[in-house]
Amino acid sequence: MMIYLDNSATSFPKPQTVSAACSGALRAYANPGRGGHSLSIGASEEIYSARKAVSEFFNAEGAERVIFTLNCTSAVNTVIKGILKSGDHVVVSELEHNCIMRPLERLKNAGISSTAVKIYPCDDEKTIASFRAAINQRTRMIICTQASNVWGIRLPVERLSALAHEYGIMILVDAAQSAGVIPIDMRKSGIDFLCTAGHKGLYGPMGTGILIIGCDTIPESLIEGGTGSSSMSYEQPDVLPDRFESGTPNVSGIAGLHAGIDFVRRSGTEKLSAHEFRLIKRLYKELSGMKKIKLYLPEPEPEFFVPILSFNIDGMDSETAAGELSKRGIAVRAGLHCAPAAHRAMGTLDSGAVRISPSVFNRQNDIDRLVYVLKRF
Ligand code: ALA
Repeated sequence: MMIYLDNSATSFPKPQTVSAACSGALRAYANPGRGGHSLSIGASEEIYSARKAVSEFFNAEGAERVIFTLNCTSAVNTVIKGILKSGDHVVVSELEHNCIMRPLERLKNAGISSTAVKIYPCDDEKTIASFRAAINQRTRMIICTQASNVWGIRLPVERLSALAHEYGIMILVDAAQSAGVIPIDMRKSGIDFLCTAGHKGLYGPMGTGILIIGCDTIPESLIEGGTGSSSMSYEQPDVLPDRFESGTPNVSGIAGLHAGIDFVRRSGTEKLSAHEFRLIKRLYKELSGMKKIKLYLPEPEPEFFVPILSFNIDGMDSETAAGELSKRGIAVRAGLHCAPAAHRAMGTLDSGAVRISPSVFNRQNDIDRLVYVLKRF
């Protein structure tokens, strides 16, 4: 049996209730909003109930503010490309994933500029000062991850929201690694746009993502088409969520995501994260005693990190190490994790790093086995 420690890429296995919800939806539903028959109506009801569950889980202003997307990347693209205009400037952290860096790179051609600011792990004051110093008169938005997918470093997004609003600008938070790990309250946090994957800490299937709109500025749609509503009109509807949900949705995926969120809610976000932290701290202690292992950050504490740990092994390329671990039945992700900026920030752009990311389904034995194998490399 494979020991799976790559839950930052996608959580695996999924709870049994998630698989059951996906296959149940495939058996029970047809196209939602596209027919007056019971198979279509059942699908619409399932999607509405999933939307409501997401809205309640994140304490959003209402279910209509929850947009189902393909993944976190499509949610981020919807906001970045649907809001920013020529002349706008954005401030991002130096830890951002390519889901943010690549759209911004493309938008350079459209006259949109960005500044990537230094992050100070475990020092929120300095991190906030770093963002503040980069805001200028053209800045329209702060865009940042809530937790680095490589280093697990947490950014103080509530305080960054307050900073953004102090300057009358918006904030987009990439919660791909934090949703289901850190409690997120849309109303209390002041986050304007929350983008996340459905298939990581929320335990839903791959191909699901969420955008929650917390503010009154609504992005332009990037995709137009049938919504099952206002069909007489050639204009894309303005109403939420239809504006962003053209085309047949991923009904079985959304049903699975709903079950995933129910699983997280029943288990308790804090409990899930506490379990993963116990494993990561155990690993950290073991690795810090091994001479050939290079760690880059202090022992992760929940105030400043999510339970992700990346490291390197002296004399061994990170991809080779991951390959050797895989041969021994341990699944991890190495290389650049689609986040070259985060590696540049830590000086690991050339080497990459080996990343360990547990889920609630990992046990202490999994970590002990990993340590045993690493000691013999
Ligand atoms: N962005 C995901 C990861 O960090 C896929 O592995």
